[in-house]
Amino acid sequence: MTTLVLGASGFVGRALVRSLTGTGETVRAASRTPREGDQWVTVDLEAPETLAPALENVDYVYYLVHSMGSGAGDFRATERQCAAALAHAAANAGVRRIIYLGGVAPRGEPSEHLASRLEVGQILRAGSVPTIELRASMIIGTGSASWQILRDLAVRLPIMLLPRWLESKSCPIALADAITALRDARTVSMATTSDWFDIPGNEVLSFREMLELVAALDHRRIPAIRVPVLTPRLSALWLRLVTRTDYSLARELVLGLGSDLLPESREYWNLTGHPPVFSFRQAAEEALTSEPKGSRAARVVEGFVKAIGSHRPDA
Ligand SMILES: NC(=O)c1ccc[n+]([C@@H]2O[C@H](COP(=O)([O-])OP(=O)(O)OC[C@H]3O[C@@H](n4cnc5c(N)ncnc54)[C@H](OP(=O)(O)O)[C@@H]3O)[C@@H](O)[C@H]2O)c1
Repeated sequence: MTTLVLGASGFVGRALVRSLTGTGETVRAASRTPREGDQWVTVDLEAPETLAPALENVDYVYYLVHSMGSGAGDFRATERQCAAALAHAAANAGVRRIIYLGGVAPRGEPSEHLASRLEVGQILRAGSVPTIELRASMIIGTGSASWQILRDLAVRLPIMLLPRWLESKSCPIALADAITALRDARTVSMATTSDWFDIPGNEVLSFREMLELVAALDHRRIPAIRVPVLTPRLSALWLRLVTRTDYSLARELVLGLGSDLLPESREYWNLTGHPPVFSFRQAAEEALTSEPKGSRAARVVEGFVKAIGSHRPDA
């Protein structure tokens, strides 16, 4: 079996390639900028001619690509074109299944980013190659942009402003559990040729509760001031100030949390028999302890780990 991972240089892609490598099957890792090693191939979805060589003799394709924050003027149009290019090239190459990791459909009006994620899923599922779309809310792990914002807020905030979007609820999932879901997606049987499934973590948490849980790992309590009216623009500026994250990313996160991001069903876990095993707290601890050594974040985390260790009854 040969598996192609598109977006292999990204947060989820790196972890998936690590997990698939060494299982005896052939894994091809693709991104726009070539990396060292035999398994890497160069693919730019905006240059569809780069797809055919990468797809040669490929059975399964993982689609872990997005264009948000890429500076593309109309990132939705870019994402549509990229998805259509892959659907077309995969059909020509005789691919057995496409596995796409997208985002949860909100109950209310989706943000541009979430709407685009859902549109990409529709385009891929409408193609002739059987496609499975997995919908996740926040994935907790080192290197995830949204986790990084959450972690930075929890570590740095002296006082918390409480705009309404902080109360939006979702079911975050640990990176390891998301990787298991992705691995199972190649073989899980579907009632229809193509389908989508939510992949929720076990807990329903608001962004504020997640912040408090991460802050509590350092025995911090962040005093809160309720500010019901804080526009997405001001919220994003606030996030940028505290976390130094890219403004457009912060804005998308805030807009994405405009309403709850809850799953419609947990059916996928029944189909695979591998429901999530990690709690939010365990996933957060794992993410904090695997920060790259010597980084500023890692130094903060060392303090966390010492504090956790000295307060655990079994330490
Ligand atoms: N992170 C989360 O919390 C989360 C939550 C829910 C769903 N998801 C979904 O999971 C997927 C992966 O997200 P991520 O967090 O891993 O993203 P990421 O770290 O930002 O990685 C994005 C990947 O897309 C690749 N890419 C972008 N434009 C490309 C193009 N034109 N051609 C080829 N490759 C291109 C990038 O590769 P190069 O720049 O190296 O070419 C990179 O490997 C996305 O579909 C996202 O919606 C993520």
